[in-house]
Amino acid sequence: MKNIVLIGFMGTGKSTIAHCLSEVYGYEVLEMDEEIVRREGMSIPDLFETKGESYFRNLETSLLIEMQSRRGMVISCGGGAALREKNVEEMKKNGKVVLLTAQPETILERVKDDENRPLLKGNKNLEFIQDLMEKRREKYEAAADIMLAVDGKCVQDICSEMMELLGMENTLKEKR
Ligand code: S3P
Repeated sequence: MKNIVLIGFMGTGKSTIAHCLSEVYGYEVLEMDEEIVRREGMSIPDLFETKGESYFRNLETSLLIEMQSRRGMVISCGGGAALREKNVEEMKKNGKVVLLTAQPETILERVKDDENRPLLKGNKNLEFIQDLMEKRREKYEAAADIMLAVDGKCVQDICSEMMELLGMENTLKEKR
């Protein structure tokens, strides 16, 4: 089975949903951020600080290319991965790209105690989140094969809605 690539703003639930897809449908999870941290031996804030954002973005591109030789993966991308055209190109070669969306209020609630997102450092307020989301919207939407709003839904429902939209539910359940 082809890979599923999850994109969307920080806090839209990409990781949680990836793990649910793994449990219910048998996908293997690749957490891009986690994998980069593991390989580089450095946290995301430290990577941004010492090597710079574009170094980090290049690592994202390489990882997306690497995953093309794998099957049955759900790739949970960092929130900025889909902003680069080259990354989107490489995402599409992996399989279907799914954009998760959420209201800024939902995002703020989820990220408010998190210290691991350098872009939100000192910016944990609705106005900043709304503004950054708006700036990214066009690129996110252009990258997506399907879009899914997550507000007020439980993880299981989001996963089954996604598989239905992708027309993949039945095929995959047989694999369990
Ligand atoms: C980023 C999102 C983060 C992480 C980095 C940059 C972004 O991932 O890759 O902090 O530019 O939106 P999450 O979406 O998993 O928080």
